[in-house]
Amino acid sequence: MKEKSIDRKDQQANKIFERRTLSSDYRTIIPLLSPGMEILDVGCGTGTLTNEVATYIGDGTITGLDNTPSFIDSGNEHYGSTQNLNLVCNNIFDYQPPHPFDLIITARTMQWLSDIPRALGLFKSWLKPGGQISILDYNHTSIE
Ligand SMILES: C[S@@+](CC[C@H](N)C(=O)[O-])C[C@H]1O[C@@H](n2cnc3c(N)ncnc32)[C@H](O)[C@@H]1O
Repeated sequence: MKEKSIDRKDQQANKIFERRTLSSDYRTIIPLLSPGMEILDVGCGTGTLTNEVATYIGDGTITGLDNTPSFIDSGNEHYGSTQNLNLVCNNIFDYQPPHPFDLIITARTMQWLSDIPRALGLFKSWLKPGGQISILDYNHTSIE
């Protein structure tokens, strides 16, 4: 199935992503975070929220995954010094995680995926036993 596309040349997207904070744009995950967790952020954009999550997990690690190279390049430029953050450029349908995760988070990304049931199956297979998935999304057409 064909992937839906985002206008990757539009630098406006970077500016929007870089203004995001957990408290205003993904506050429901804050209570789920604790030191030592291994987390995957699917569709991390420029990694702004991913980088903030890193500050909550101490010696845990977070991987941000996104298939737009310019977003990952921007994230590495801004947050390259965050020790427990790893930003990876790949399509989720090709990604092979190096280890299982305690928590998979995904904000405003499911709506862009070509095959949501397949994506959910992959997420489930990438979790540790008892791991959790948190999805934040909305229906663009119903809010236009
Ligand atoms: C609307 S942005 C959300 C960015 C960030 N999570 C946020 O809330 O600010 C959706 C992101 O999903 C990424 N994306 C879309 N399809 C993808 C796929 N198949 N694999 C990996 N990333 C994908 C896009 O490149 C984009 O950065």
